[in-house]
Amino acid sequence: MYFDVITLFPDMFNAIKNEGIVARAIKKSYLSIHTWQLRDFSSNKYKNIDDKPYGGGGGMVMQVKPIRDCIHKIKQANPKTKVIYLSPQGQPLKHKLAKELSMLDSITLLCGRYEGVDERIIEHDIDMEISIGDYVISGGELAAMVLIDTVSRQIPSVLGNAESLNDSFANNLLDYPHYTRPEVIDNQAVPEVLLSGHQANIDTWRAEQSIKKTQEKRKDLLKN
Ligand SMILES: C[S@@+](CC[C@H](N)C(=O)[O-])C[C@H]1O[C@@H](n2cnc3c(N)ncnc32)[C@H](O)[C@@H]1O
Repeated sequence: MYFDVITLFPDMFNAIKNEGIVARAIKKSYLSIHTWQLRDFSSNKYKNIDDKPYGGGGGMVMQVKPIRDCIHKIKQANPKTKVIYLSPQGQPLKHKLAKELSMLDSITLLCGRYEGVDERIIEHDIDMEISIGDYVISGGELAAMVLIDTVSRQIPSVLGNAESLNDSFANNLLDYPHYTRPEVIDNQAVPEVLLSGHQANIDTWRAEQSIKKTQEKRKDLLKN
């Protein structure tokens, strides 16, 4: 799977390129992340890509031309890439959407800054807007990294252990509780059933715990 990322801060992506699950997946060639410095598509000597908003008001707006040229360049090599603008106004990023996106071969992520992008980019150049939550962050880079991470986890070969795909939300339930050594610490003991070696009982207990946790913390998920 190919991720092309349009950003003013390509170095931010070193965080996921160099460490953790995404880095491992890149090393094994299951995915690649290519960052594009949007300033390289500026046509002025100061490398500006933003300007004042029509109608006045604070903040700057990212201009059409550099973004459009960059998308055009990416599409020359990858005509079918799905172009996604990370935006607080987008469709919420949920497990189901991450799974759908993981079926694609190529995704282009546009990271906004300032007040965001000129509306004509959204109207004309973007396939979809995605939000990571009902709050505003300062730029699309962190949102893009969240998307890359969760989408990558849905590619079967990326996670060595397929059981991790039973994480929270995979079945509209939260995950069951996990324990590791020691068996007892500060008078807190691991539930007996997990030490029993009886796999069927363990599976039943985990399924019950999963439902219980969902009921307690996220009743809304049970509707699905
Ligand atoms: C300061 S925000 C602009 C917010 C915009 N003026 C608004 O209120 O809709 C700058 C950039 O951060 C990114 N961003 C902010 N919040 C986001 C969210 N919840 N999900 C995804 N991207 C977000 C977007 O790319 C956005 O263009």
